[in-house]
Amino acid sequence: MSTLHYSVMLFQSIDLLDVKPNGIYVDLTLGRGGHSAAILDRLDNGHLYSFDKDQAAIDYCRDRFANDPRITLIRDDYASLSQWLDQYGVSAVDGVLADLGVSSPQFDDPLRGFSYRYDAPLDMRMDQNQPLDGAVVVNTYSVDELTRLFREYGEHPHAFRIAKAIEKARTQKPIETTFELVDIIKKALPAKELNKKGHPAKQIFQALRIEVNNELHGLTTVLNELPDLIKPHGRIVFITFHSLEDRIVKKTFAKWCAIDPMLKRMPIPQEKLPKPSFTLLTKHPLQASSKELDENHRSHSAKCRAVERN
Ligand SMILES: C[S@@+](CC[C@H](N)C(=O)[O-])C[C@H]1O[C@@H](n2cnc3c(N)ncnc32)[C@H](O)[C@@H]1O
Repeated sequence: MSTLHYSVMLFQSIDLLDVKPNGIYVDLTLGRGGHSAAILDRLDNGHLYSFDKDQAAIDYCRDRFANDPRITLIRDDYASLSQWLDQYGVSAVDGVLADLGVSSPQFDDPLRGFSYRYDAPLDMRMDQNQPLDGAVVVNTYSVDELTRLFREYGEHPHAFRIAKAIEKARTQKPIETTFELVDIIKKALPAKELNKKGHPAKQIFQALRIEVNNELHGLTTVLNELPDLIKPHGRIVFITFHSLEDRIVKKTFAKWCAIDPMLKRMPIPQEKLPKPSFTLLTKHPLQASSKELDENHRSHSAKCRAVERN
C-alpha cells in the first residue's frame, strides 16, 4: 500500500465532534488512522474504539498507534458496534465519527480491484475474508439483479443495457478483471453517453462496490443503534461521499432532530411537547475548504453532517 493518505475534512469533522479529554469515542472507519490520531491528540485519559473490516488498515494502525493504550482497534464491520461496546463493558459513548466508503489506499492499490483505472482482479472487498467479491456479483447475479444494482446503487440511466451486455459476455468466458468489465461497459453504452464528463464505468463500479461491501445495510444498522449508545451532549459526525449514503444520514439525522409526529398529532400544547432526542449542528452539510479541494480530489464529493444528543 502507498503511504500517501489525505484525511478528508479532518479539522472540520474533529471540531464538530468537540472531543472531551476524558471522554469515550468511536471511530467507525479507521482507515489509515488520520481521524483517530486527531481524536487521540485531543484525548487525555479518555478512550477511543476504532473499527475497520480491512486487515490492511488494522495492520497499518497497529504499528501507527503501537504505544498508545488509549486506543482499541477492532477488526469487524461497524454494524456490530453495540456488541463490541457491550463486550468492552461500555454502555454509552461521548462521540462517534464516521468517514464513510473506501479509503484512498484501497482505491490506489491496484490489486484491490476498486478502481477502473488499474487492470486487476475484480475484487472490491474491504473485508478480505468474505466470500462475495466483484467477480462473484458480475458472473452470478441475474440480469434483473444487476439492473437493480446499477439503477439503485449506481443511479445509471443504462442499467439494463449494461446488465444484458454482462450476461452476454459471461457466456463466452467469466469476467475476471476490472479492464474486462470496463470494456464491456464501454461497448454497451451509446456514443453520446461515452462523451459525457467522467469515466463511463464510474457509476457501475460504485454500484458493485456498494453491493460487495453491503455498505448501505451497514450504515442503516449502525444508525439505528446510535441513539441508544450516545450520552447526553454526545456528538455524532458523519462524512459521506455519494448521494445514496448522504440521503440516509440526512434523513436519519432529521428524524432524530424532529418531534415525534405521533406526539404532534396529540392535543398537547406546543411548549409542553418533549424536546427531540437530538439537535442538528449542521443545518447545511459542511464541505471541504477550497484549500483542501485544491489538494485532494476525493474531498470534492464529501459532505459532513453532525448532531448532538439532548
Ligand atoms: C474513507 S476511509 C477512512 C479514512 C480515515 N478516516 C483516515 O483518516 O485514515 C474508510 C475506511 O472504513 C472502512 N469501512 C468502510 N465500511 C466499513 C464497515 N461497514 N465496517 C468497518 N469498516 C468499514 C474501510 O475499509 C476504510 O478503511
